[in-house]
Amino acid sequence: MSDPGGISVLGICGSLRKASYNMATLRTAIALKPANMAVTVADISQIPPYNEDVRAEGFPPTVETLRRQIAAADALLFACPEYNYSMSGVLKNAIDWASRPPDQPFAGKPCAIIGAAAGMAGSARAQYDLRRSCVFLDMHPLNKPEVLIGQAQTKFDANGKLTDEAARGFIRDMMVNLAAWAQQIAKKA
Ligand SMILES: Cc1cc2nc3c(=O)[nH]c(=O)nc-3n(C[C@H](O)[C@H](O)[C@H](O)COP(=O)(O)O)c2cc1C
Repeated sequence: MSDPGGISVLGICGSLRKASYNMATLRTAIALKPANMAVTVADISQIPPYNEDVRAEGFPPTVETLRRQIAAADALLFACPEYNYSMSGVLKNAIDWASRPPDQPFAGKPCAIIGAAAGMAGSARAQYDLRRSCVFLDMHPLNKPEVLIGQAQTKFDANGKLTDEAARGFIRDMMVNLAAWAQQIAKKA
């Protein structure tokens, strides 16, 4: 653990829109986190489209910042929208940039995934694509509970508050499990 008294988590949201249900879900997770956890949210809005020629010249400052934040965090929390049955390009692009050598910062990190989508499946397909990337990135995704908020337009009020009690319960449980998972992995490291 970077801080013996607590677990530091970096939240990364794959939607940039102001009224994003995924950002609202991330805010809910922060509100329901256990006391021994601190969550900061990364700003990935200014990361340029990935270009290997640009990387060869050096990481852009926005990517450097993200890589530093990932490396410093004890765990990551992805809020994963579903676009065309996969994760959003914005999220994939940020992951692609941050994942490039040297010192790939995702390696060995515990992470959890939450998601909200308009469809019934609640971003499940996108989340499973993200889990697939976790394999290559050598991350340790938390398995349960899954947080899949389907028909998101019916589950939040006008202020972006998640009103679905069952979903709030899953998120609360996930945050407790993520804290335990991060501690377990840190002990093995
Ligand atoms: C390009 C695009 C593709 C989408 N594809 C899906 C999809 O495959 N499955 C789904 O449930 N919703 C899909 N949606 C609807 C999103 O779930 C909805 O816009 C949601 O609000 C996006 O997350 P956000 O609120 O965090 O921005 C799509 C939306 C966009 C803009």
